[in-house]
Amino acid sequence: LPPAEEDIAQATTLDQLGSEAMDCRACALWQPATRTVFGEGPITARVMLVGEQPGDQEDLAGHPFVGPAGQVLDRALQEAGIERPDVYVTNAVKHFRFLWRGTRRLHQKPEQSSVDACRLWLNAERRLIQPVLVVMMGVTAAQSLLKRPVTISRERSRIFPLEGGSHGLVTVHPSYLLRLPNEADKQREYQRFLEDLQQVKRFM
Ligand code: URA
Ligand code: SF4
Repeated sequence: LPPAEEDIAQATTLDQLGSEAMDCRACALWQPATRTVFGEGPITARVMLVGEQPGDQEDLAGHPFVGPAGQVLDRALQEAGIERPDVYVTNAVKHFRFLWRGTRRLHQKPEQSSVDACRLWLNAERRLIQPVLVVMMGVTAAQSLLKRPVTISRERSRIFPLEGGSHGLVTVHPSYLLRLPNEADKQREYQRFLEDLQQVKRFM
């Protein structure tokens, strides 16, 4: 049975919340995907990292950020001196949206209706974790949390107050770094991403 709103509101552990989310049918993405990929990390985490949605490998593994984008993120976290197990890592949308191309599943940007539906889970994660800092990686995460249009280039790298007493930081999505065709751009943009993550350290 799909989870009832009161069960979500009453969940007191991340495990409970994650199990409820496994049966979510609040948007159409649950059906073609393999599984819900819920956030991971300690309930005591002071920092929450939010991506867009699971990719092909995340959908198969059932864990967030384990594919190519996750490798970029892991490297940057390590270089910034942040232990990944100390932060909570999640996505704005918890199911993989894709298009079959032959035998490959191509990532598709989630629709606004899925971002809106899935905010239920993101809010529930925030309620339990109460992060001091929420890092929004990419436009989908930023728009889900800020509930307004966001231009990453204009808003990135600045720490600002969020409602409820926590703080926010907007940065690029690690997949953006993978997509840059030019090696010099890639290195420069990776460096800026790293600088954004280095700001995270003092919140931990
Ligand atoms: N991209 C995301 O936004 N999240 C993941 O978990 C993997 C890739
Ligand atoms: Fe539910 Fe989110 Fe999955 Fe849609 S994407 S079915 S809202 S968990």
